[in-house]
Amino acid sequence: MKLAVVGGGSTYTPELIDGFARLRDTLPIEELVLVDPAADRLELVGGLARRIFAKQGHPGRIVTTSDLDAGVADADAVLLQLRVGGQAARNQDETWPLECGCVGQETTGAGGLAKALRTVPVVLDIAERVRRTNPDAWIIDFTNPVGIVTRALLQAGHKAVGLCNVAIGFQRKFARLLDVTPAEVHLDHVGLNHLTWELGVRLGGPDGENVLPRLLAEHGDAIADDLRMPRAITDRLGVVPSYYLRYFYAHDEVVRELGTKPSRAAEVAAMEKELLAMYGDPALDEKPALLAKRGGAFYSEAAVDLASSLLGSGGSAVQVVNTYNRGTLPFLPDDAVIEVQARVDGTGATPLAVPALDPLYAGLISNVTAYEDLALEAALLGGRSTGRAGGRNAVFKALLAHPLIGQFEYAEALTDKLIAHNREHLAWA
Ligand code: G6P
Ligand code: MN
Repeated sequence: MKLAVVGGGSTYTPELIDGFARLRDTLPIEELVLVDPAADRLELVGGLARRIFAKQGHPGRIVTTSDLDAGVADADAVLLQLRVGGQAARNQDETWPLECGCVGQETTGAGGLAKALRTVPVVLDIAERVRRTNPDAWIIDFTNPVGIVTRALLQAGHKAVGLCNVAIGFQRKFARLLDVTPAEVHLDHVGLNHLTWELGVRLGGPDGENVLPRLLAEHGDAIADDLRMPRAITDRLGVVPSYYLRYFYAHDEVVRELGTKPSRAAEVAAMEKELLAMYGDPALDEKPALLAKRGGAFYSEAAVDLASSLLGSGGSAVQVVNTYNRGTLPFLPDDAVIEVQARVDGTGATPLAVPALDPLYAGLISNVTAYEDLALEAALLGGRSTGRAGGRNAVFKALLAHPLIGQFEYAEALTDKLIAHNREHLAWA
């Protein structure tokens, strides 16, 4: 089995390698190619990756390259974990929306739209090259914004599934609180990427007993603390929103808070410097503890599970992934991309049925889906030299549709700011 990781020079990669090493029986990798344009990072990360494999006795070969076509050639699965413009671009996404009193975040609101515009054309180009060398390869997309990027890939006819670690994070957390193994915990996880709620927590299987009321009664404080939301929210709703819902339920509080401290991008950039210095140490042969301060906990385990199910080497039958709606949420178009439990096998992901949703969730999901629709439309223009007015208007419409923006004045101002900060990535600008 050959796997390629595009964005393999990421400081996150040792987390992935650690998972590949520990779970090698579930995913028997013979060759792993780390692809990245940043040759200096690749060398540091690749060196540590080989030492982790060697220490844990993984027989697989690790190759590093900046040549995308050679790297993905004949891969059975390609993982995408790239960030166009790096932390510097992320820092901008997190900063300029605040000037209009709107949340500055890399996947939510105006910052998320900017990221989508930069990312979609790049990812589509990569996927096209993957398809050229191996039309059967699976694309596993971790690249944010995962919902929009996955939809772009699926619409272009690629064999793609989108993945995020929010669900596996809850699964692991609830398993600890319940003192059971993670495999026993099934989540009634519903929504869009970074806009999800745990409506139930079931033991033993997707139809098992719902222990969420018990979890909330016995561990309500710990759960709310983790989300940085008041316990009254989880108590009143009786569900567990993901921490990304804080940008909606506590929008103004978050904006005030963000105005008083360095951006997450700045924090991450400092950590990355430290991490890369560590990776260069030939004595280091495991993932350093500092990596735990990043948001990507357990993403390697989610990746192993998904890849092994898609490639037929094991993996859980049911996993939370991003895929086409196909009637699952009847109030959304079939080709909206949703994040729910799905049956995963060699043919791809098929969502499990979801009971009728409370309008409280259905309404916000519909609204954000409409935004994502318009965001993708704007992002698809980004790679083309369409007229400037057309490009600008597409950006404006997406911003106006976003429930955290909505006002004409802000949508106008944010459109100008988005374009000014991302001109080099927009062919029409
Ligand atoms: C979580 C999200 C990812 C996101 C990451 C950011 O894992 O699910 O989609 O990329 O957080 O973490 P960072 O450490 O870069 O802030
Ligand atoms: Mn995510």
